[in-house]
Amino acid sequence: PLERKWVQVSLGMCALFVSIIMLDALFHGVNAPSNVETIDSRKIHLSEEFGEDNLGVQVAENGEITVRLVAGRYAFFPKEITIPAETKITFRWVSMDVLHGVHMPMTNMSTMIVPGYVSQVESSFPRPGEYPMLCNEYCGLGHDHMWSKVSVI
Ligand code: CUA
Repeated sequence: PLERKWVQVSLGMCALFVSIIMLDALFHGVNAPSNVETIDSRKIHLSEEFGEDNLGVQVAENGEITVRLVAGRYAFFPKEITIPAETKITFRWVSMDVLHGVHMPMTNMSTMIVPGYVSQVESSFPRPGEYPMLCNEYCGLGHDHMWSKVSVI
């Protein structure tokens, strides 16, 4: 009888956790990453989208802002970007070598940058200021120095 009680308790906890995940997905829009766009890491600097001429902040004709960044040992390229506050911005990252991550403290920005895939995150920054963009996946001896500067104006 005591065992049965604990089985019931653990099944109840499982049901609770699954329902929290379901509620977050349905009502808060929290979903597992579903963007599985692929890219050949070796061709990033030759590619149309992630070529050297096309990195950084781009404003489309309809005003939508896209920021394309390449992560590589040990920097994000370009190393400095300037973006407007209170504006929806689409960030697209790729890695040219190994697994990196990106994290901007005090914002909702945090994602992995897996070689071979495009990581896309939409965000907007309510307050102007300077934000560091840090690598948060260990990527080698220079990992601690891998960061770049985002100016929000
Ligand atoms: Cu890149 Cu750590």
